[in-house]
Amino acid sequence: MKVVCATQNKGKAQEVKNLFEGTDIEIVSLADLKNNIDVEETGTTFYENALLKAKTIYEIYKLPVISDDSGLEIKQLGGRPGVYSARYAGENCTYDDNNKKVTEELKSYRQPHRAKFVSQAIYYDGKEILSFIGELPGRMIDKQRGNFGFGYDPIFVPDGFANTLAELTLEEKNVISHRAKSFEKLKNKLMERNSK
Ligand code: IMP
Repeated sequence: MKVVCATQNKGKAQEVKNLFEGTDIEIVSLADLKNNIDVEETGTTFYENALLKAKTIYEIYKLPVISDDSGLEIKQLGGRPGVYSARYAGENCTYDDNNKKVTEELKSYRQPHRAKFVSQAIYYDGKEILSFIGELPGRMIDKQRGNFGFGYDPIFVPDGFANTLAELTLEEKNVISHRAKSFEKLKNKLMERNSK
């Protein structure tokens, strides 16, 4: 079965391909299809945004689609940046701008700054919607550490670790990440269905 992975992020598409390797599900990325569509994330929840991406891509190819939306929720900031994680410091901002904004906002709050990364994975085939959440709990620190990863990784320390996500290798991060968890659940569900 061919399934389109609805992301322009090459790293994410590769992660999903790796996850389904050796199964009878063939993941086709938007890059493989030479499609550079950028679906505007106008939803107010991760679910709405992930479904929006999945439905938009489904309407083009009429093939089953896998999509996800993810972000960081900080408890003392009432769940912000949340769905606005990518553009928290404004349109076209950098990861560094976002990290500085979060650190500045947290200055007036006591440690620990509890937070979690959330990934909402969706499968949509024109009829059925399958939806799975993955979470990675941890805390925010006030100085960036590490050069791996992306986004908020340099200021996020996952529970059970002394290092930030940006100090872990990609292999180490992929074992514990919110995305690994949500996509693993989705994969298990699809495998279970296909074996019936
Ligand atoms: P999207 O799911 O690709 O729309 O990602 C939304 C934003 O959430 C990213 O631009 C990052 O700012 C943040 N984010 C999501 N996952 C991670 C992660 O694993 N590490 C750091 N930041 C992340």
